[in-house]
Amino acid sequence: MRLVVAKDYDDMSRKAANIIAAQILLKPNSVLGLATGSTPIGTYSQLVEKYQAGDLDFSQITTVNLDEYRGLSPEDDQSYQYFMNYHLFSKVNLPSENHFLPDGTNTNSEAECERYKNVIHSQGGVDLQLLGLGHNGHIGFNEPSDTFVKDVHLVDLTERTIEANKRFFASADDVPKQAYTMGIGTIFQAKTILLVVSGAEKMEALDKVMNGPISPQVPGSILQLHSNVIVVADEAAAAWRLK
Ligand code: GLP
Repeated sequence: MRLVVAKDYDDMSRKAANIIAAQILLKPNSVLGLATGSTPIGTYSQLVEKYQAGDLDFSQITTVNLDEYRGLSPEDDQSYQYFMNYHLFSKVNLPSENHFLPDGTNTNSEAECERYKNVIHSQGGVDLQLLGLGHNGHIGFNEPSDTFVKDVHLVDLTERTIEANKRFFASADDVPKQAYTMGIGTIFQAKTILLVVSGAEKMEALDKVMNGPISPQVPGSILQLHSNVIVVADEAAAAWRLK
């Protein structure tokens, strides 16, 4: 894993956007795996700026998102589809038929997991997968558990994740309790993985991901085995180096 330390959140966002921009420039028809959460918001706004400046073209790009809450429709302002439309899709020239997320409204979880797995497969593989990191070390919505789950699956969110994500909802009771997510195997198929991490409250999780034992109890720790992972973390998140 390569660690790039950024000064602060803005610097992390610029560095991450530069890496994604390089991917788009070098391969204009790249398949990008995208993430939600507050961490990549700055990265997306940097990409939008580069597009507006005429430096990036998304017309041949395809995107597949990591995850989606089960039960939320794309119009729901807490859905990840809405998030992506708001922060990126509506602001760049990415064709609407080129972006994909799990369908949170499909209550047939088996059918939805199979459908989304095939969607990802039919794109021919992810070139660059952007990831954030949960406080408990989760990636996508792969929560700490006794095993690594390989494929797209439905997960029960942990109390810690519900607690962390309730800031976006009226109350913790409104946070969906389940989500569809790419599995660890799905994420691993990406040629390049770009993990963005910001803030002191993520330091412990990042330390475990990069330096701890590889364990499904810290799902992100499996990234130690991938041959091409770039971690862009701000100084606060990477402060374990100074301990
Ligand atoms: C959610 C998402 C993850 C994200 C995590 C951290 O649980 N499913 O993909 O990485 O939150 O979010 P944040 O960046 O807001 O801390």
